Amino acid sequence: MCGVDVNNELKSTCIRSNCNPDISSVLRQHYSKPYFLPDDSELSAIDWIFMGYQGPGASMHLDYVRRPSWQAQIKGRKTWYLLPPPECEDVCIPMNITVQRGDIILIDTNQWYHTTVIEGEEMSVTLGSEYD
Ligand SMILES: [Fe+2]
Repeated sequence: MCGVDVNNELKSTCIRSNCNPDISSVLRQHYSKPYFLPDDSELSAIDWIFMGYQGPGASMHLDYVRRPSWQAQIKGRKTWYLLPPPECEDVCIPMNITVQRGDIILIDTNQWYHTTVIEGEEMSVTLGSEYD
């Protein structure tokens, strides 16, 4: 899913997921599982790539994916706005965090309502995958 303007320039966040094993084998030559995940943690067969320029991404939502995910900020800067699930509101608080190049966020997007905003002039590129 990508939004482009009349000049065919990327206008908002573009999301691609890849489940083609041939493409994954090439893509995964360029990254490995984040070092802090347990050795027996497995990545999903699907990689996600998010690209976009300054401004908001999707509106506040929950995802319906199988597992929690890690999302590595490859380029640019993005702020995550997170709201706890209703059953956790007594002990959890809304929060936001800005990730920059080299940062990785671990999040269960099935549980935490979330939206993101790309900050600054630089294009944002994020790579991620589900894990268990
Ligand atoms: Fe999401």
